Amino acid sequence: MNVKPLIMDHPLIQHKISLLRDKNTGAKEFRELTSEIAMLMCYEATRDLPLKEVEIETPIAVAKTKVISGRKMAFVPILRAGLGMVEGVLNLVPAAKVGHIGLYRDPETLKPVEYYCKLPVDIEEREVIVIDPMLATGGSAVDAINLIKAKGVKNIKFMCIIAAPEGLEALTTAHPDVPVYIAALDEKLDDHCYIMPGLGDAGDRIFGTR
Ligand code: PRP
Ligand code: URA
Repeated sequence: MNVKPLIMDHPLIQHKISLLRDKNTGAKEFRELTSEIAMLMCYEATRDLPLKEVEIETPIAVAKTKVISGRKMAFVPILRAGLGMVEGVLNLVPAAKVGHIGLYRDPETLKPVEYYCKLPVDIEEREVIVIDPMLATGGSAVDAINLIKAKGVKNIKFMCIIAAPEGLEALTTAHPDVPVYIAALDEKLDDHCYIMPGLGDAGDRIFGTR
């Protein structure tokens, strides 16, 4: 299966991404925007959650209506920058569990290095959405999904704010079964594998470390 990536070009998302890209946007606003965009994206990424019919007594009569049929979810941010999306997605799905995968790109090799992995004990029973604002070479996303698949998870989605074509190609080749949700597909990677035009280093901008 090769699922076509969904590019979420809703005007509210596009507007917020423009603010996010601006080099004059400070850490506080950057964090707020990242969280808001994550919430808007999550609305679309959860569109296929199954529903079941229930009967609810309104003050007037009994209504046949629908509720989410109990599919359990987990969000897995890739540390650090993925943390910036957690609050936004939990606003929409407060009952979801949160796992963490720590990966950083080695500045020399540009390959992801794993330094942390803590996932919910019942992760294999859950629908998992991996979140990270940036998909550059795709190495971090591919490795994170490898780790999650190794725990037996069948139902995985990947959600990022900005992707480079190179990363998207790498991810969909390695994991053709994983639906990908993107808010903006940029032009290319630069010589240091930063996304162009991108927004710079997402982790540094969220946490104010540079
Ligand atoms: C960034 C970003 C992704 C990764 C994308 O994290 O948040 O995880 O780079 O690059 P890739 O697609 O080429 O793997 P980074 O490694 O800078 O770590 P940080 O979040 O701790 O700053
Ligand atoms: N990681 C980032 O934070 N930004 C990029 O452009 C590429 C990787």
